[in-house]
Amino acid sequence: MEKMILNGEIRNRSEIKMELEDRGYQFGDGVYEVIRIYNGKLFTSEMHLTRLIESASKISINIPYTVGEIEAQLKDLVAENEITFGTVYMQFTRGVSPRNHAFPSTDVTPVYVAYTKEVPYNGALKPGAKAITIEDIRWLRCDIKSLNLLGNILAKQKAAEAGCFEAIQHRDNMVTEGSSSNISIIVNGELKTHPATNLILNGITRQVMLKICKDLGVSYQEEVFTLEDLMAADEVIMTSTTAEIMPITAIDGQSIGSGEPGTVTRQIQQAFHAEIERQCGHVIESIVK
Ligand code: PDD
Repeated sequence: MEKMILNGEIRNRSEIKMELEDRGYQFGDGVYEVIRIYNGKLFTSEMHLTRLIESASKISINIPYTVGEIEAQLKDLVAENEITFGTVYMQFTRGVSPRNHAFPSTDVTPVYVAYTKEVPYNGALKPGAKAITIEDIRWLRCDIKSLNLLGNILAKQKAAEAGCFEAIQHRDNMVTEGSSSNISIIVNGELKTHPATNLILNGITRQVMLKICKDLGVSYQEEVFTLEDLMAADEVIMTSTTAEIMPITAIDGQSIGSGEPGTVTRQIQQAFHAEIERQCGHVIESIVK
């Protein structure tokens, strides 16, 4: 029977009922994380859980657990559900209280749920994906991993309708990030990506990628770049927990570079795979198709 976590306890999923007046349900008043599981092990979980607690604190939700406590609970959940390759989704809402925009009284406690999903791992060298560009209409606190994702889902839907994998957002002609990913460009062997300001989510995959660049000797700049820079780039890379290191080979129907994944992207993909193996053990033979 599938298990999930409700408020720190592992329970049967079928027994769990959510309240109508949960502020997450009514206002999107909460924060979430998605953590990848490779070989039954959580990947970069400390970074994700630290960000979760930071996101919560930015909207004054007090998470009553330490990173270590949540990590231990998630490990138990992954083991109980026997997940080898997948993700764990978790969210904390401000809690259940009669509907009113202002915060409820401090005795209302957050509602915390987590559940797992099987997701195959298809190895390092993913083929290229297509993207569209779209105006970034979101609020100005995109650094918070909030449950409010309307701007993101409207952008992703436009991409889906165009037969594309991602929508690359821009504000005043400056590229910010994808609808559910960070975006980087490679120009003359150098990587450029939006700085970790309030206009983007500072992706964990983005942070791992920048560390990889340092290790590989690929120079990088956390600097804003324009739509024209994006279209003229030699390579474009999308990064996220679920997409990992994904080459973007066409944007708005136009090829990027040669139209094939570029050499720097391939190098970073290989190194990212090595990082997965360093944290979670050898995975090549267990790749799920
Ligand atoms: N999305 N930017 C946005 C807006 C995102 O939603 C995400 C992740 C990222 C990449 O962050 P990370 O590398 O930490 O996954 C950037 C997750 C996966 C999601 O919503 O499912």
